[in-house]
Amino acid sequence: MNVAVVGTGYVGLVSGSCLAELGHQVTCVDVDVEKIAGLNNGVIPIYEPGLEELVKRNVGYGRLRFTTSYQEAIPDAEVVSIAVGTPSAEDGTADMKYVKAAAEEIGKNLSDYTVIATKSTVPVGTAEMITEIVKANTDCEFDVVSNPETLREGHAVYDFLHPSRVIIGSSSPRATDFMVHLFAYLDCPKVVTDPRSAELTKYAANAFLATKISFINEIAHLCEEVGASVEDVAKGIGLDPRIGKDFLHAGLGWGGSCFPKDVLALSTLAASLDYPLPIVNAAIKTNVHTRERVVSRLEKALGSCAGKKIAVLGLAFKDNTDDTRESAAVAIIRELHNRGAEVRAYDPIANVTSEHVGFDLEHSADPYSAAEGAEAVVIATEWDEFRNLDLQRLKKAMSGDILFDGRNLLSQEEAERSGFRYFRVGRKSKM
Ligand code: UDX
Repeated sequence: MNVAVVGTGYVGLVSGSCLAELGHQVTCVDVDVEKIAGLNNGVIPIYEPGLEELVKRNVGYGRLRFTTSYQEAIPDAEVVSIAVGTPSAEDGTADMKYVKAAAEEIGKNLSDYTVIATKSTVPVGTAEMITEIVKANTDCEFDVVSNPETLREGHAVYDFLHPSRVIIGSSSPRATDFMVHLFAYLDCPKVVTDPRSAELTKYAANAFLATKISFINEIAHLCEEVGASVEDVAKGIGLDPRIGKDFLHAGLGWGGSCFPKDVLALSTLAASLDYPLPIVNAAIKTNVHTRERVVSRLEKALGSCAGKKIAVLGLAFKDNTDDTRESAAVAIIRELHNRGAEVRAYDPIANVTSEHVGFDLEHSADPYSAAEGAEAVVIATEWDEFRNLDLQRLKKAMSGDILFDGRNLLSQEEAERSGFRYFRVGRKSKM
């Protein structure tokens, strides 16, 4: 099929190249001239495993191209996927200005019946809003469907090509047929529903997963108090298939570009309808507390953070990505800095600007130079590289002996053998 994808961020670029990989003829359109020029020269603007090869291969086959021109992308497309950003607005709702602008441009450039599918996570009722905007700009027939993405950063290419389900929210059988055809090669259930249910499904999925993580973090905090092991508790409950073992890793709470924004948008939407969601709101509160608790435990171990050198290993919100949006690592660095610590950081891929972190953060070239002269080291991202740290070398580089493993990557015995006072999430601290 001929497909246009609007927006070449994480979702759009991955979706566009994967749709090309499935054999479709895909044109990705973005208003960012520099980004499109880069993509046309083989420069991939984000780090996502497998993406670069996928883009190059499909550009080479002539199935994938990039443009800034809606006029070039839209008229021939049978399906137009909207994958522009929906960042949080000041009041917590999703900011729809990019979606609205895309809808207007799509409307102006339709030439024949087209299915317009929203991939971006959008508030309930957006399909109707897009329909109105497009209708005001075209005489062509079209349908708007909701087709929310469920990609994890760092696994996005795999997730797109091996989804657990595809959600199609459509009120038109003709549009549903187009969407089923688009994803025909994907071997997974296709959940066909109405647009509002599809839009809510995405928010509900993210809120449920975020709540699951907040729940296990709460249990982890209790484990720290009562002297139990959260990993054993997680294993014990996760083997019950009704609970499931995934998303039960206690750590520094959920971050990234999706969970915080989507959970807040859901909570704000519900509150605006005078139907607040106490469980979702509690999950948000616990997430904030989870980060604060790490800093408090560390401060207790150090006596005070003021004037202490602390190395933070990891900046990305999770492994296999350079994304630092809503990263727990960044929140913790900010808090340590506010409490007077001298913070240095290392991440294998991610960087943060002084604007993002709020001060001029020193980035080290490797974990050992970050740890040079430090009183404490905090592991803040679950990079594999940190599972394989040379702990003796790390300890030797430091002036102190505190190792706070915020992602529970290391073995307590080995850390203690290397001379550390070792702290992890969901285990009582030995002081
Ligand atoms: C998420 C959803 O998984 C995906 O389906 C959706 O479409 C977009 O949002 P992503 O943001 O890439 O994907 O990250 P994910 O792997 O889900 O992790 C989210 C956060 O939760 C990370 O900060 C991660 O460190 C944390 N997490 C995850 C835990 O703390 N414990 C866990 O057990 C799992």
